[in-house]
Amino acid sequence: MELKPGLSALVTGGASGIGRALSLALAGKGVFVTVVDFSEEKGKEVAALVEKENAKFHSNLGFPSAMFIRCDVANTRDTAAAFEKHVATYGGLDICINGAGISNPIPFPKDQTDGTRSWRFTLDVNLIAVIDCTQKAIGIMQAAKKPGVIINMGSSAGLYPMYNDPIYSASKGGVVLFTRSLTPYKRKGIRINVLCPEFVQTEMGLKVGSKFIDLMGGFVPMEMVVKGITLQMFKSDVALIVRVTLLFQNL
Ligand SMILES: NC(=O)c1ccc[n+]([C@@H]2O[C@H](COP(=O)([O-])OP(=O)(O)OC[C@H]3O[C@@H](n4cnc5c(N)ncnc54)[C@H](O)[C@@H]3O)[C@@H](O)[C@H]2O)c1
Repeated sequence: MELKPGLSALVTGGASGIGRALSLALAGKGVFVTVVDFSEEKGKEVAALVEKENAKFHSNLGFPSAMFIRCDVANTRDTAAAFEKHVATYGGLDICINGAGISNPIPFPKDQTDGTRSWRFTLDVNLIAVIDCTQKAIGIMQAAKKPGVIINMGSSAGLYPMYNDPIYSASKGGVVLFTRSLTPYKRKGIRINVLCPEFVQTEMGLKVGSKFIDLMGGFVPMEMVVKGITLQMFKSDVALIVRVTLLFQNL
């Protein structure tokens, strides 16, 4: 798919970090964006920035070129309403980025709870919601009989074990193999990709200890993550999994 003005994207976790950067990158191509997040203040700010960028491509649209929808992605009724509002406003869905994610709030070895507010919730947000939103996006794209691109946020922690956060690693490993198992949709014109960055300097990335980040060679620059998506994930002839790593930075 060529990124061009008039396409529309729904981005979960679009209020901050990687989702924010991708929302702005899409706006830089004239793409309409619905930012779905539970962080209202930041989400509205991103939607306003997207509208400003989009004004360079569109005028007198009669509808907003960006919207913020407050939503907990773990709540399927909330996400259904968000997808419905997006389609009602933009007449379809070309791109869905499932970026909302959290690290596990209680270290697994210390967790004495039943997991409702810790590891079960982490899996609900990082894996179950990604499956749920992917299914919803596929349904909309198939009904429209138009090509579509879905990008799920995996992580290098979904490719290799993350000893200090096994639940996060489990959730991302699930996202990686779930997404790779959807490869056959490519034949129907729907590309479903998984992006696996190493550590990126975001609110989530900054929670990781600096010693560990140093050991990994530092943070992956956000531009590399955005490039990983905008350069590779919309083309039809590349792998459906993109690993963003500092290893390749100087090649
Ligand atoms: N930062 C990293 O080092 C890194 C590396 C690899 C993968 N990732 C993944 O990238 C994605 C984005 O992470 P980030 O680093 O930009 O983090 P971030 O904390 O900056 O952004 C995450 C966003 O998701 C939103 N969110 C979280 N739970 C939500 C929920 N239940 N409903 C709605 N919105 C919710 C937050 O409000 C926030 O805006 C995540 O899936 C994360 O696992 C991050």
